[in-house]
Amino acid sequence: MIRALHLTKRFSPTGPAVIDDLSVEIFDGNFISLVGRSGSGKSTLLYLISSLDRKYEGEVFYDQSEITHMPMQELHNLRNRQMGFVFQFHYLINELTALENILLPARKAGLLKEKESTAHELLKTVGLDEKAHRLPNQLSGGEQQRVAIARALIMQPKYLFADEPTGNLDTHNGDAVMNLFARFNQDHKTTIVYVTHDREFAKRASRQIELVDGKIVSDEAH
Ligand SMILES: Nc1ncnc2c1ncn2[C@@H]1O[C@H](COP(=O)(O)OP(=O)(O)O)[C@@H](O)[C@H]1O
Ligand SMILES: [Mg+2]
Repeated sequence: MIRALHLTKRFSPTGPAVIDDLSVEIFDGNFISLVGRSGSGKSTLLYLISSLDRKYEGEVFYDQSEITHMPMQELHNLRNRQMGFVFQFHYLINELTALENILLPARKAGLLKEKESTAHELLKTVGLDEKAHRLPNQLSGGEQQRVAIARALIMQPKYLFADEPTGNLDTHNGDAVMNLFARFNQDHKTTIVYVTHDREFAKRASRQIELVDGKIVSDEAH
């Protein structure tokens, strides 16, 4: 599980607390949407709990490990083994095919051969098995986002973090992304935290956390 304790984040020493003395527990297998108005701190909170931003007051624990002050090498290992990330603007490598992009984390971990069949399964799951050998610019925006999600899932992470993963997608492609998340959460017990400002997409989660001015104002499971 992830435990965040008394997180406070300011972007400058005298600036406002963008995250304001916030504590939250995320249990294994949780499927969480993080909602709130633009500027309420959703992205910032996601970055803090996922270790991408480590400059804050307070502490974040992954199970028994405190990651806030963890040595960089140890943190890299934790990220590579346990975390997947998806952003609004996917960062696919234009020179690599869809399949090669998905396999990139495996290649970095020296597990290219071992992960090849997983990559093909993921391509099928995201509905792109016919397009495995296309380059990103030969795919639509929605298809590119699905490749980015498959890449985030290739190492079968325990945690998946996504910042507005449906932000650039039409309803149809957004639904496809949400279905994929729901399926991974169910089939693999992947803990998923995603940011969205879309009320309908937010409802797809089994727990909704709402932020106002860097504080949690509601936290509802259903
Ligand atoms: N790098 C930054 N430097 C200064 N202020 C920032 C930075 N990133 C975000 N902020 C501010 O922090 C607040 C929360 O931002 P953010 O977490 O991106 O909100 P959300 O994702 O909910 O729209 C906003 O007021 C934003 O302007
Ligand atoms: Mg944001």
